[in-house]
Amino acid sequence: MRPDNFIYNEGRLFLENTSIETVVQEIPTPFFLYSNATIEASCEAYTSNIDSSDLVCYSVKANNNLNILKILVKKGLGFDVVSEGELKKVIKAGADPKRIVFSGVGKTFSELKLAADLGIYSINVESAFELEKIIKLETKPRISFRINPDMEGDTHPYIETGKADCKFGMSEEDALLLAKKFSNKDINLVGLTAHIGSQITDTNLYLDLLKKLQSLAEEMENLGHPIDHLDIGGGLAIDYEMQTSFDPSELVKKIKKETGKYDLLLEPGRSIIAQAGALVTEVIGIKENGQRKFIVVNAGMNDLMRPSLYNARHKIENISANEDGETYSIVGPVCETADSFGDDFVISAKEGDNLIIYSAGAYGSSMGSNYNLRLRPSEILVSGTEFSTIRKAESFEDTLKLEDF
Ligand code: LLP
Repeated sequence: MRPDNFIYNEGRLFLENTSIETVVQEIPTPFFLYSNATIEASCEAYTSNIDSSDLVCYSVKANNNLNILKILVKKGLGFDVVSEGELKKVIKAGADPKRIVFSGVGKTFSELKLAADLGIYSINVESAFELEKIIKLETKPRISFRINPDMEGDTHPYIETGKADCKFGMSEEDALLLAKKFSNKDINLVGLTAHIGSQITDTNLYLDLLKKLQSLAEEMENLGHPIDHLDIGGGLAIDYEMQTSFDPSELVKKIKKETGKYDLLLEPGRSIIAQAGALVTEVIGIKENGQRKFIVVNAGMNDLMRPSLYNARHKIENISANEDGETYSIVGPVCETADSFGDDFVISAKEGDNLIIYSAGAYGSSMGSNYNLRLRPSEILVSGTEFSTIRKAESFEDTLKLEDF
C-alpha cells in the first residue's frame, strides 16, 4: 500500500479498505476524503521520536476540521494557532491550553488577552508593538520571540516566510534589543521560535536554524531570561508528485540529536494532513478549444486554491481507470481563467467519471471560499472499511443565513 493508503485494486481506487466508487454512490461530489490511518501514521512519525517535554504543535491553518482536530488531540499533538477562531476551535476539540502556541504577525489585544487568560504554552511574539500590548495585560503569559532567520527555502515566493524582508518575526538584533530593554520582571520570555518557510525539502536547513536559535537563546539566558524551549516551526515538504516521501521521523531524529538542553517544539501542518486527504470530483464534460483539450470538472479554485494561487501541481487520477489516455488540461467551472488544476495531464476520462485530486488535505478546505456562490463541499473520513461525514455539505440556505434577516 502507498504511504497515503490509496491503492488501485483491479483498476478501481481504494482508500484504506474502502472503494471510492462506493463513497461516490452515496456522497454527492465534490467532497474531500481523508484517511484516518494516514493521519494517525503521520502524527506518530513525529511523536514517536520526541521526549515527553517536547511538543508537536499541529499548524491548524492547514486544516481546521473539528473532527480532524479531535483525532490529533487523541494522538497527543499540541496546536499552533494564528487567530481567535483557531484558538477557540482547538479548545472546542479538547486541546489542553498548555499544548497551544499562538503565532501571527497581527494579533489583536483581545486575542492576546484570550490566549493569556487560557494560560497557553507560548504566545509567539512577532514585533515590538506586540510586546507592548502583552505588557499591558493583567497576567504575564509565557512568551517566545519569533525570529526572522533570514533563510531561504527553495519554495514558492508566496510561502517564503523566513527571509529578512518578509513581514514575519523580528531580526536577531531586534530580539536582543527587546530582551535587554525588558527584564524577567517585565516579561516571561521562555522560548525562541522561527519558521523557515513551507515546502522545505532540505532538512539540513532545520539544523542551521536550530544552531542559530541555540546561540541566541544563550544570549537571552545571560540577560536573565529563563529560556526553556526552541521552536523550529513547520514547513517540511511533501511530494505532490507522490514519488518520494519526506519522512518526518527522519527529520525529528536528526534534530533531536542536536537540541541539547532545550525542549523542542515543531509546528508541522502540511506534512501531517496533506497526503491524508484528497478532493473527489466529477467530470462535467470534455471540450476542445484551439490546440487544447479540456476536462471540465465540478470542483474549482474555490475548493482547492493551491494550483491557481501558487501554480501548484496536484496529481490527478481517475478513480475507476488507472491507465494512460489523452493529454488534457483539467479545469473547474469558476469564471476565471486561473481556475485550472493544470495542463498536460495524461489521463483516461469521460463525462460522468470521477477524478481524484491528491494531497488536498492541507490548505484545501481551510482556504476554500464561496466564490461564484459555490457551496462548500462535504468532508468524509475513511477508517478501514467504514466512512463517515465529518463536515456536511453546505446548502444554499446556509449561504443566506447572515444576510437574509
Ligand atoms: N508555523 C508557522 C509559523 C507558519 O507560518 C506555518 C505556515 C506553519 C507553521 C506550517 O507550515 P507547513 O508545515 O504547513 O508547511 N497556503 C500555503 C501554505 C502557507 C503556509 C503558511 N505558514 C500552501 O498551500 O502551500
